[in-house]
Formats: sequence, C-alpha cells, structure tokens
Amino acid sequence: MTDLLSVNGGSPLHGSITVRGAKNFVSKAMVASLLGTGPSELRNVPQIRDVDVVSGLLELHGVTVDYDPVAGVLKLDPSNVESAHVADIDAHAGSSRIPILFCGPLLHRLGEAFIPDLGGCRIGDRPINYHLDILRQFGAQVDKRAQGIHLTAPNGLHGTKISLPYPSVGATEQLLLTAVRAHGVTELAGAAIEPEIMDLINVLQKMGAIISVDTDRVIRIEGVDELTGYRHTALGDRIEAASWASAALATGGDIYVKGATQPEMTAFLNTFRKVGGQFEVDDDGIRFFHPGGDLSSIVLETDVHPGFMTDWQQPLVVALTQAKGLSIVHETVYENRFGFTDALRGMGATIQVYKECLGGRPCRFGQRNFLHSAVISGPTKLTAADIEVPDLRGGFSHLIAALAAEGRSTVRGITLIDRGYEAFTEKLTALGASFDRD
Ligand code: EPU
Repeated sequence: MTDLLSVNGGSPLHGSITVRGAKNFVSKAMVASLLGTGPSELRNVPQIRDVDVVSGLLELHGVTVDYDPVAGVLKLDPSNVESAHVADIDAHAGSSRIPILFCGPLLHRLGEAFIPDLGGCRIGDRPINYHLDILRQFGAQVDKRAQGIHLTAPNGLHGTKISLPYPSVGATEQLLLTAVRAHGVTELAGAAIEPEIMDLINVLQKMGAIISVDTDRVIRIEGVDELTGYRHTALGDRIEAASWASAALATGGDIYVKGATQPEMTAFLNTFRKVGGQFEVDDDGIRFFHPGGDLSSIVLETDVHPGFMTDWQQPLVVALTQAKGLSIVHETVYENRFGFTDALRGMGATIQVYKECLGGRPCRFGQRNFLHSAVISGPTKLTAADIEVPDLRGGFSHLIAALAAEGRSTVRGITLIDRGYEAFTEKLTALGASFDRD
C-alpha cells in the first residue's frame, strides 16, 4: 500500500460504521498487564498501529502477546517479564509516547527500566517533566543517557503525596501504574479524570488495586503487594466517534457510529448541536447528521475532561469552515495544535490564528507567542488540493476537508492515520466515499 490517498470529494458521507476500543485507553491497559502475576485478556481492541507498537514493546520485555483482530481479543501473558536490550527498545524510539508508561511497572517487576526517546504527534513540546518528577518522588533514580532514560529504584518505590501543576493524562496514568504496587499510600491532587483514565482504574481495580477518586480531582491509592491479571472490555473510542461525526457535518452527510457512547461525549454533543448538527442516541451507538440549512458559528474552548477534548478540535474546525459567521476556537491543552489549518487555508478556508487567548478565560499559553487561538470565517467553499498529513488528528481533518472539497485531492502520509483510526479506508468505502489508495 502506498502512503497516498486520492480523494474525489464533494459528496456527503452516508452510512454506518463501527468504532471499537479507545486507542488512548487500550495502550495503557496493555501496559497495566505487566503488573499482573498471571495473564490478562482485553476485548474490543482495534487493529491500529499503536496497538502493534505497544505489543512489540511488551514482547521485547518477555510478555507473550496473542491478538485476534477480528474478535478484537488481546491476550497478554507477563509470566516471563525480562529486561529488553537497549538497542531493541531504541528501535522503537520515535514511534510512540507509550514507553514512558512502562517505567513504574518495569521498576516493580525488574528493579530497572530503560525508555527510548519518545515520539508521538508534533502538536507542541510534549515534555515528560511531570512523569520524571513523579517517578523521582516515588524513589526512582533517573539517569539520562544518549539513547534515552535509565531508571532504577535501589530502595524500592514508596507511596507519596503529589500535586500536578496541570491535570496531565499521561502523568496521572504514570502515577496510577506506579502507585498501585508502591509501599504505602499515594495521594494525587490535580489529577486528570478522563473516561480513559477511569477505565484504567477499572482495570487496575480488577487486578486487585485499591484506588479511590474524589470529586475534587484527588486520587488516593493504597499500594498492594501483588496484582493478578484482568479480563476487561475496553470503552469505545470517543475521539474516533467525534471525528466521524465531524465528517458527517462537514460533508453534509449522515453517519451512524456504532460503538459511540453518550456519557463520554456530553461536551462534544452539546457543541455539535450548537453548530447545527443533529444526533440520535440509541443503545448501540449514535447517528450524527447534517439536517440541511446553515450551520452556526460558535465560540469554543478545548479543555481537560469534562470539557471539550483537544482531540475533537481539529476535525470539528473543518466543519466550522462551513458554518455561517465567525467561530472562535481557543486551544488550552496544547500550545501548537493549529498547524493543520495551513492546509485548510490552502483549500479556501478563511482561518486566522492568534497568540492571544480569544473567546474566554486566559490560559497558560497566553502572551507567550503560541498561536493557540483560531478565528474561522464561513461558510467557504473548499477546493481540492495536495495535502501532507502533519499528525494523527490533523491528518484526519485534512481527509475530511478533502472529502468535503469539490474535485480530486491527494492526501500524503496517510499511514500516520493508521496509528489511531482502525480500517479507515474500509469505513470510507462503507460511507460511499470515492478514493484510491493503491
Ligand atoms: N505536559 C507537560 N509535562 C508532562 C506531561 C504533559 O508539560 O510531563 C503538558 C503537555 O505538554 C500538554 C498538557 O500537559 O500541554 C497535557 O498533556 P497530557 O499529558 O494530558 O497528554 P498525553 O498524556 O501526552 C494524551 C493522549 C493525547 C491527548 C492528551 C489530552 C495518549 C497516548 N495521548 O496525551 O492524544 O491529546 O492526552 O487528552 O493517551 C491523540 O490521540 O491524537 C493524542 C494526541
């Protein structure tokens, strides 16, 4: 398969597709299996590249991985966990940010961990200072080397009291995966409480962990000596669901997303309705559709849960190019998540980005030269173009724009989209899109 998709746009997407387990949960639940004394079984696992990457890393550390992509069942046996060769781990460098979450479990299992330089989407600096501070507070010694970071815990890992300066998803997961088997009690203030984190807590509780979550973003963990394997069905991917919903709106279409769930998407559904999209929720999924007529401009701010997710922002911005009037989007999670708008401008969209905090409360990126607010003026007709995928969500947004634009666009670098969107070309076919990937 080539890395290029030629898209004949301008037709509404119509039909039904299925989303399976959330990329940003499944990868963490896979890491959690390292903490168990016996095998784990995770269901509803999508066939995406991030699952392959984490499977590869687990295998390097002696975990037996058995994945049935059709059934979506992943079996993980950590009975023979061992240290991996630095060169092998390093071969995974740049492919994902998940390796940083191996630290706590590997320190518990082996007394040491090596983490290669991290990859992930280019949407900001994406530092790991919170992660390393947390690990140090548990008692880990962190040694930065040329190829990556080497960690040891000569005196074991001990429960601690930590307050996060920002409710980071990854740092909260780092803390959970380390605290569950640390000696004593850990308290985290300022925790992230995304549904994917809550599902990770479900998994850890099934394994034998003791974790309580207060209403004020405080999580308490009582460390235990041993954890077992787990059996769990992953929650659905609310980012993928919202991406298809935005595709329905931008193309004037109608998409039933089987596997989309309402409770995790409340903020998205409110916004979708305000823009003028309609939806119907049933027991199996959500139908998202453009009811005809004008879409409305909105003022929107991305935020941590329960706010509007940053990962929903990029696909929705494409739909906002079709809304009447001026929309304002203030990105408060990442400092640099509007790079994808360059390509949209090239396709005829009117979008300006600003370093000021527009539309709402000031955020930590204000007055720091980060172009983190966007003003979108619409509706504008989108025209076909040659586009390069910049990152996972930005890439999917470009795909949506190409599907909405009249004429034949080429989208390059689409293997990046395989990282987080299962079988997206098959889904496009099911929705009646006209394209070639050969
Ligand atoms: N941050 C720091 N220091 C750290 C960690 C984070 O300053 O040590 C900052 C980041 O730079 C960012 C903010 O905190 O500005 C939030 O980052 P967070 O740690 O919450 O993000 P993450 O754990 O690296 C996960 C998802 C992202 C998603 C964010 C926010 C995974 C693998 N990734 O990233 O997903 O955008 O949470 O919900 O779970 C995606 O799926 O395309 C994606 C980028």
